[in-house]
Formats: sequence, C-alpha cells, structure tokens
Amino acid sequence: MAEPLRVALAGLGTVGAGVIRLVEANADLIARRAGRPIKITVISARDRSKKRPVDLTPYTWEDDMVILGERADVDVVVELVGGADGPALSCARATMEAGKALVTANKAMIAHHGLELAAKAEAAKVALKFEAAVAGGIPVIKGLREGAAANEIERVYGILNGTCNYILSTMEDTGRDFADVLAEAQAKGYAEADPAFDIEGIDAAHKLSILAAISFGSKIDFPGVETTGITRLRAADIAQAHALGYVIRLIGMAETQGDKLFQRVQPHLVPFGHPLAHVDGATNAVVAEGNFSGRLLFQGAGAGDGPTASAVVADLIDIARSTMGGGEIGVPFSVPVAELEAMAPADSGPRLGRAYIRFMVADRPGVLAEITAAMRDAGVSIESLIQKGRAGDAGAVMVAMVTHEGPESAVAEALRLLEGSASLTEPPLVMQLLGE
Ligand code: NAP
Ligand code: HSE
Repeated sequence: MAEPLRVALAGLGTVGAGVIRLVEANADLIARRAGRPIKITVISARDRSKKRPVDLTPYTWEDDMVILGERADVDVVVELVGGADGPALSCARATMEAGKALVTANKAMIAHHGLELAAKAEAAKVALKFEAAVAGGIPVIKGLREGAAANEIERVYGILNGTCNYILSTMEDTGRDFADVLAEAQAKGYAEADPAFDIEGIDAAHKLSILAAISFGSKIDFPGVETTGITRLRAADIAQAHALGYVIRLIGMAETQGDKLFQRVQPHLVPFGHPLAHVDGATNAVVAEGNFSGRLLFQGAGAGDGPTASAVVADLIDIARSTMGGGEIGVPFSVPVAELEAMAPADSGPRLGRAYIRFMVADRPGVLAEITAAMRDAGVSIESLIQKGRAGDAGAVMVAMVTHEGPESAVAEALRLLEGSASLTEPPLVMQLLGE
C-alpha cells in the first residue's frame, strides 16, 4: 500500500477527540477507501496537561500550531480550534504558505476569511476543505458542489444550528426552560465555545454565507446576512405557534433576486406538514432548489463529535486520493475564487410572505385598536389575532397575530408606526411563516 497521508491535528476538544477516535476505529476501512492509510502524526492544543477522553501517547505533541504545516512529518493540517481569527487563522495561513493542505470545521473562519484562504490554496495548488463547517455530518458541501453541480440553484435554506434546534424542539416537547436546555446542549458538545454564537444566530449565519457562496457561485458575504437568534422567544410563542399548526425553527434562507443576494437567519413558523417541521434535536436539514434536480433535502446530525469527525475524515480521504497522482485537488468553492460573483445584498421589503407578530402590551382598553390601526395604515391584512389572559405581575399581556400574505415592507412600516408607543412594553417580535 502507498505511503500514509500524515495528518497534524490542531485542537483536541469535542471534534478533535472525535477525529482521533474515528481514525483509530475505522483505520482499515479508511485505508482501503483512501488507497493508503491516514495517520495522525502530530497533535496540538492549548493545554498539554489537560485530561482527554482519548489516549494521546502515540502522537507527537507540538506546542505551536502555527508551525504544524512546516513540519516534515505532516502532509495535511486539520484545524479544529475555532474562532474567526487568532491561532486558527494564523495556522491556516501558515499551512498553505508552507504548501500543505488544510481541513477545517471552522465556519467562523471560512465565513470571514474563506475567500483569502481559498485564493491562497489555489495559488499554492493545495486543498482547502471545510465539509464539517456546515451542518456537521451532512455532506452538503460535497452534495451541492459536486452532486448538484449541473443545476442553477435559486434558493437554499434550512436548519443550520444544532444547538438552537435542540433547544427549540426540546422546549416544544417538554416545556422545559431555555437556559436549562441550553446547558444540556453544551454538555452534549453541540454548542460553540461561546454559545452566544449559537443562540444569537451568528453560527447559522456563518454557515448560510458559506452555503450561499457554494450554491450561487457568489463571494461569501457574511455581513450581508440579516441575523436574528432565538433569545427573544418565549415558551408562549412556541405554544401559540403550535395552536396555529406550526413549530418554530431557526431557519437560514438564501436566494438570488436577479443579480442581488438575499440572506437571512431568523426563527420561522414552520407548518406541521413541511419536512423541516420534523427535524428535531441536534439534527440539521438543508433544502436546495435546483432548476433541473428539483427540491433536494439533505438531513442528518448537525453537531457533535462523531458526525463532525465523519465530515472531517471524509475530507482527508478525498485529499489522500487526490494526492496519489492523477487525482484533482479541485477548487475550494464551486468555481475558482477569482470567478466568484460579487452580489449586492437584496432588500427584504418587496418579499411576499405571511408573518407572525408578537406584541407584549399594557393590559388596558384601546391597545388592540392602536395596533390594528397601525396595521391598517401600513396596509397589512390581519388573518388572526389572539390576546391571551390578563396581565400578571409583569403588567403585560401577549398579543399575537398572523398576517395575510403581503410585502415585508408593509409589516416593517406598521412596526415603525408603533415605535415609541407607550402601549408596548417591549419591541415586537416578528417571525416569517415558511411556505410549504
Ligand atoms: P472545543 O471542544 O472547544 O475544542 C477546541 C480545541 O481548541 C481545544 O482542544 C482547545 O485546547 C483548542 N484551543 C482553543 N483555543 C486555543 C488556543 N488559543 N491555542 C491553542 N489551542 C486552542 O471545540 P469543538 O467543539 O471541538 O469545535 C472545534 C471547531 O469545530 C470549531 O471551529 C467549531 O465551530 C467547529 N465545529 C464544532 C462542531 C461541534 O459539534 N462541536 C460541529 C461542527 C464544527 P484545550 O483542549 O487544550 O483547551
Ligand atoms: N454549535 C454548532 C451547532 C456546532 O450547534 O450547530 C455545529 O456546527
């Protein structure tokens, strides 16, 4: 058998330990499929003395992850540290400058610096692979780059954050408290080192910007993603959505509008009949609409050590095969980085849709009339309006409404008219209804 592909592993946390376990457990199968063994030679993390769930004695320790690519006993560096900048980025840059391939699960780094890194990889003719960066164990990057390569994709959307999905579906099933379920997701290894990235929607926005670039051949535009997380949701929203025939899911949505690109992460009401309504726990699902393939649905575990390691090692197998002679390294995105199109952000105003709007209001006469007058004046047609209960100690009641289909700009105008109203005890919460 050919010489092993020698791998340096930077980061020995949830995913790093998962990669070691997988490479050891499936060594024979991986070697057959890769045409040669995949051998971890060098490892690096922050704290050498930390107790780990895997035996590290077979591997050489390197304190400085930035020089991993320069080592003679390394062909590929796997970066599993995280963070858009800092040591992860220095390690990635240095690896490719040393002419070595890079595999990463770091969506923050790819969302912020993916174009620069892809240009470096192309110039150095080395692989840059990031399957694990989007939707954990689901081969969605490969599926879109290769499997759906013949299609024009107009829309890609889905559930892109396992932690949020775990929180929402567990709260829905059990009525448990947000903070309690978030702590459980952290204990299971789903959450980012700083879970604000998950619950504020930033992690999903990182992934969406990467998916959009792959799907549309556009430059990554992370700042162009309108992002709202799940922190303002209340258990009462979940119950209200359920009563209306919906579940709440954090959805990332990207679509082309002519030569513009619309990208948004926002909690949505998903009808019970939609395939995404049945995506529970840390599962992710991505829907891509191709002009010849029709609707493609990719679904699977979106976070956790095993599924993410599976995606990382699949990238290593691709590299092992491609560097055996004759194989193509390929470009990191669907086209060379210089050919990716710069698309300006599209305005959400003209988009047609139905919205759920939740108000917390003072419990006094005339408040509903004020809200409905603002809707009337902005041209928003109300399909249903529910006010539940009387104000408790908090002094506010919840009013939820669902609109008929109309432009998003009309809802935005209605909310603008209500800005500063003494009747509202907090800013309204708006969620779009996902179409069937
Ligand atoms: P993690 O458990 O927090 O592990 C991070 C590792 O990086 C640890 O081994 C840590 O070292 C090391 N590290 C952190 N800061 C460092 C520094 N300044 N210098 C040197 N080493 C440093 O994270 P993870 O969950 O495995 O995630 C790793 C990457 O995969 C992230 O980019 C994440 O977004 C991505 N990802 C995670 C998942 C998931 O389900 N967890 C899924 C997909 C992608 P010590 O152990 O010594 O502290
Ligand atoms: N924190 C991320 C999530 C890990 O919960 O989806 C997988 O990318």
